[in-house]
Amino acid sequence: MKTILDVKNLCKSFGETQVLHNINFKVNEGEFVAIMGQSGSGKSTMLYNISGMDRPTSGNVLLSGEDISKVDEERLSSIRLNRMGFIFQHSYLLKNLSIRDNIVLPGFKSGKYSREKVSENAESIMKKTGIISVADHDIKKVSGGQLQRAAICRALINKPDILFGDEPTGSLNSSTTKEVMDNINDINIEGTTVIIVTHDAKVAARASRVIFIMDGSINDELELGKYNGNKDNSFRDKKLTQWLDKQGF
Ligand SMILES: Nc1ncnc2c1ncn2[C@@H]1O[C@H](COP(=O)(O)OP(=O)(O)OP(=O)(O)O)[C@@H](O)[C@H]1O
Ligand SMILES: [Mg+2]
Repeated sequence: MKTILDVKNLCKSFGETQVLHNINFKVNEGEFVAIMGQSGSGKSTMLYNISGMDRPTSGNVLLSGEDISKVDEERLSSIRLNRMGFIFQHSYLLKNLSIRDNIVLPGFKSGKYSREKVSENAESIMKKTGIISVADHDIKKVSGGQLQRAAICRALINKPDILFGDEPTGSLNSSTTKEVMDNINDINIEGTTVIIVTHDAKVAARASRVIFIMDGSINDELELGKYNGNKDNSFRDKKLTQWLDKQGF
């Protein structure tokens, strides 16, 4: 299996305060990793530092062998635009644009695909995520779940190798969480590597591996294997709950 992300001795401090302590882990192409841990343990900080949204104080973050913690801003923004997708708890879509226009915008900006191809991609992912019926709606006139699925579509428009998410279901109720996670699992099955931070054990149970962060260090990891929506997945929930119990979560 091929490593897509290799994090080596990652440390991050804000002023005098060290938040991340010697983080080491690898992610294989096609994996789905969930990061869990108490509030303030450093999950978001870790996600930002491994995705090039922030720079580590020391250590290395290799994306397909290239150290993204050391590249210049121009290279970094190109990597982020072309190879990475991002989703957050609250999606910041542009207010005066439709859902469709919000989704195609980073596609046009990147130039990785022709405008025609970008429009085709948008159409196809909006169908897949079930928001095609609201494609031309103003973003103020759709539900929270639809908005989050639009954010996923926008993150996927340039067909990234990795999708990063910080609490992507944090503002959703349990039924829209399920819809969004079904979308994310589908994307992952089609080959995109996924790394998300979540508080929600139900969300983490969709991952193939769960990493538990405690006080800025990796405390433990749990292998769950690939999620299969058609199977009875109750054993995964049980295994995860027991493990989280052991972590004191
Ligand atoms: N820009 C910053 N400047 C100073 N301290 C920061 C900064 N960002 C985060 N921290 C501190 O780093 C620690 C970890 O924060 P982080 O946001 O990574 O936690 P988290 O695990 O994502 O928490 P939550 O579950 O509440 O989102 C906290 O003590 C926080 O106050
Ligand atoms: Mg956080």
